[in-house]
Amino acid sequence: MTSGLWPASVTARRLGGPPITLRALHGRDRREWEELRAANIDWLRPWEATSPEASTSGFAFRQLVRHFDREATEGRLQPFVIEMAGRLVGQMHLFGIAWGSLRSACAGYWVDKSVAGQGIMPFALAAACDHAFLGLGLHRVEVNIRPENTASLRVVEKLGFRDEGLRLCYLHIDGEWRDHRSFALTSEDLGSSSLVDRWNRSQEKSHRRHTDKDPQ
Ligand SMILES: CC(C)(COP(=O)(O)OP(=O)(O)OC[C@H]1O[C@@H](n2cnc3c(N)ncnc32)[C@H](O)[C@@H]1OP(=O)(O)O)[C@@H](O)C(=O)NCCC(=O)NCCS
Repeated sequence: MTSGLWPASVTARRLGGPPITLRALHGRDRREWEELRAANIDWLRPWEATSPEASTSGFAFRQLVRHFDREATEGRLQPFVIEMAGRLVGQMHLFGIAWGSLRSACAGYWVDKSVAGQGIMPFALAAACDHAFLGLGLHRVEVNIRPENTASLRVVEKLGFRDEGLRLCYLHIDGEWRDHRSFALTSEDLGSSSLVDRWNRSQEKSHRRHTDKDPQ
């Protein structure tokens, strides 16, 4: 069932910007990765999962790469970094992958604070969904977001995820069990079409609307 799922790599063409690649984290990324994480500690703290066991500390880089590869090979995780113009700009995980009659994954993501607001994440999430539905054959992709996280709520709204309601004390984030709003797409929502194509078309339309309204 899960052989051949990893390593995976997805490159998608973005209208009006460089292509984005979702790929595995490699040993050679160490310095860039550590600098990126260090630069974003405060930016990510309110939104990143923590362990309810106070004694558990994070993985060192090599352990992290090994952990990702093992989980991915066993079919539970698709642990992508996001690369744009030859630079790491964030992370996109399809995690908690369940097979059998569920065929579902949760998406978790972040971008470097210095590139936030450029539409990178709606595009990267669209690419991850195409990979999940059309590549892996999953049926459902879910995103769980703290109600306070207005930026992330905009990402799922832009892509047309369905609001499935509030989950109380759902996930351990920043040291506490936090409520989350749950959003999902299933393969029925897209049929055989690509969410990246749909997103690019909607961007093109809104760009045209703006240029028609504002002739120079
Ligand atoms: C949530 C997140 C991934 C969005 O990624 P993105 O690539 O910036 O997405 P977008 O460019 O579509 O921007 C989404 C919203 O962020 C807000 N935003 C815009 N510029 C911003 C900036 N410079 N800094 C912070 N937020 C900004 C806006 O509300 C924007 O919505 P709008 O396009 O309607 O104005 C990113 O803000 C992030 O990494 N946040 C920290 C980690 C996190 O919250 N992860 C998700 C956990 S569920």
